Amino acid sequence: MRIDIVTLFPDMFTGFLAGSLLGQACAKGLIDIRLTNLRDYAEGVHRQVDDRPYGGGPGMLLMPGPVVSCVEAVQADSGAAAGHVVLLTPGGRRLDQSVVEELSRKERLVLVCGRYEGFDARVAPTLAADEISIGDYVLSGGEVAAMVIVDAVARLVPGVLGDDESARQDSFSGAERLVEGPQYTRPREFRGLAVPEILLSGDHGRIATWRHEQAVAATARRGHVATASQSLQNQTHPSHSRRNAS
Ligand code: 6GU
Repeated sequence: MRIDIVTLFPDMFTGFLAGSLLGQACAKGLIDIRLTNLRDYAEGVHRQVDDRPYGGGPGMLLMPGPVVSCVEAVQADSGAAAGHVVLLTPGGRRLDQSVVEELSRKERLVLVCGRYEGFDARVAPTLAADEISIGDYVLSGGEVAAMVIVDAVARLVPGVLGDDESARQDSFSGAERLVEGPQYTRPREFRGLAVPEILLSGDHGRIATWRHEQAVAATARRGHVATASQSLQNQTHPSHSRRNAS
């Protein structure tokens, strides 16, 4: 998979991309991540990329010219597909694991990091871009959001995780989108807290049922009530549940 990142702050990504999982995936050629500095596509002697909003108001917007020419140049580069363009902006559709899965199926992604108050509104339609936010809070730029997407997408690329099974068993994965319930390792007792007896029983059927119940309860506690109640139905009618069917 090829991922291009367009940003005014490419240095923010160096430590992140050198990190173990992504560094190895890039070294193995499983993902090809490239950085492009938006400033290189700035106009005029002042290398300007931002300007004040028409109609007034605080802050500065990214101008459409530099953003669009930068993304078009990136898309034209090499024999790679034009790619799926993503604008990182707090007003975009909210990232969740199903959006991550959707993005992981693309041959190429072009992630464009917003700064200042955001993008001129003509950028998204011009580039036919997918606007994505990572949650309902404001970051000072899209760089951290781009890192979140790269991390979450890369772990779904075949071969990136050592054990392909671990991605499928993660929280939010699978048909039910449950979070994981509690897990325990040694010691059997820690500061008066014991590992639940059932996990020591060796009865894999009962352990699987218990883990599923715990996952449903943990999901309900987070407020994902619809998913959790659907899952309770699956437990009552195991023939309809993917997890219980295996
Ligand atoms: Cl993608 N950008 C910014 N600036 N803030 C955000 C965001 C993105 N997602 C959530 N908050």
